[in-house]
Amino acid sequence: MAAQSKIKAGELIEPGDGDAVELAKRHLVQPWPYAGSVGNEARALIDAGDGIYITDGSGKRLIDGPAGMWCINVGHRREELAKVMYDQAMALSYNTPWYTMNAPSAELARRIADAAPGDLSHTFFTTGGSSAVETALRFMQFYNNVRGRPEKKLILSRGGAYHGSTYLSASLNGRPRDRDWMDGAGELVVKLSSPDPFRRPKGMSVAAFTDFLVDQFRDTVARVGADRIGAFVGEPVQASGGVIVPPDGYLKRIREICRENDILYVSDEVVTGFGRLGHVFASGDVFGIDPDMITFAKGVTSGYFPLGGVIISERLLEELRRSNHPDALFGHGLTYTSHPIGCAVALKNLDLLEEGVLAHAREIAPYFQAQLKTLEELPLVGEVRGVGLMACVECVADRESKDPLQLDKDVGKRIDAHCHELGLLVRPLINMCVMSPPLIISREQVDDMVAILREGISRTMDDLRKEGAWRG
Ligand SMILES: Cc1ncc(COP(=O)(O)O)c(C=O)c1O
Repeated sequence: MAAQSKIKAGELIEPGDGDAVELAKRHLVQPWPYAGSVGNEARALIDAGDGIYITDGSGKRLIDGPAGMWCINVGHRREELAKVMYDQAMALSYNTPWYTMNAPSAELARRIADAAPGDLSHTFFTTGGSSAVETALRFMQFYNNVRGRPEKKLILSRGGAYHGSTYLSASLNGRPRDRDWMDGAGELVVKLSSPDPFRRPKGMSVAAFTDFLVDQFRDTVARVGADRIGAFVGEPVQASGGVIVPPDGYLKRIREICRENDILYVSDEVVTGFGRLGHVFASGDVFGIDPDMITFAKGVTSGYFPLGGVIISERLLEELRRSNHPDALFGHGLTYTSHPIGCAVALKNLDLLEEGVLAHAREIAPYFQAQLKTLEELPLVGEVRGVGLMACVECVADRESKDPLQLDKDVGKRIDAHCHELGLLVRPLINMCVMSPPLIISREQVDDMVAILREGISRTMDDLRKEGAWRG
């Protein structure tokens, strides 16, 4: 039976009244819950956002350290974006993409093609990142079926990867705890090592580690057989895996092996796309690669509307058109493919990015990285790494063993709790804190963010020492 609530239908929930949290506990299933608390969880209520700040249910203003989920790229409360959504909804709120089309999606596809590397020319729009990755994989399957290679379907992915929460995209995920209690299409996936230089074998140089990764890739292709592998899917920078920046040259070398073996290279830019590294796409502009497909979401609308997509190489589409299977049907589409409101807001968001936000992100990124790097002075911090406006502070028991504090899986959460007190929302990831603020962050705001993080980590070190849980 539905629980009684003090809130009446249509009534505005005032900041701090606490009722929304109670309602959520009774009626919401929130993402990534543990069985022990599923459907009965109180999470921090966020009521408002403005620029790089959000306001929680008690009225406290916080820096939005993770920019939502790596997505509020141009910042909260941009009137230009709100207006475009209103105008588009009043002009055309929806049309079926099955047998009609709309102008914003065509215009957005053109703008994306202009910004994309290589011969990526066409976009299929989805509802987010998982559906973008799922679409890329289903396209690969269709492509190989049409080309008479039904056995060329295996997918290479890596430890530390995160590609989504739909069945096939989730099967690519590389973090064990994401998969331990979930089923997946494991038979379709071949896993490789994460390109994480911090966790390379002791005594191995970064150059030798890069060679190891490339050799492993080449050997795996040889062992499994290129005629059985359809695609490699990789984030340019593994985001949820802890901002793993690959060693120099690694992505280019993997791209070459894929090309030599006719394996489609899918660059998952759901996080890195639309400005996080100072460019619309990082694959070409930052890493010098030209993938066969790029998936994107999040920053494409700065999180104002659920939209994603996959950009596909002209060559692949041309091959399909020239195939001898004129009636082979790509049986794939979503009700909200090419949603006019999503595409309209994405066009305005792209204007904002190109008219200054990208340049600002490129300009401020070195300062952001350098200031965060100073946190390595703290003995709990094993490494601060990052690129552009994404970074990770990884805590370890000691720098020699690099033990990820297995004894205290919640060290990230502890830091987050202290930082919340002090005015900063952190994305805690086990022993790591991920920082990816809105791209409009100023130098002074970077200083504030780093000062709070320093204090939050210091307080956590004190707590751990007091509890005898850490001897740093
Ligand atoms: C690299 C990457 N790919 C795909 C996804 C899935 O995107 P969504 O949550 O929009 O489905 C994410 C989400 O964080 C991601 O980080």
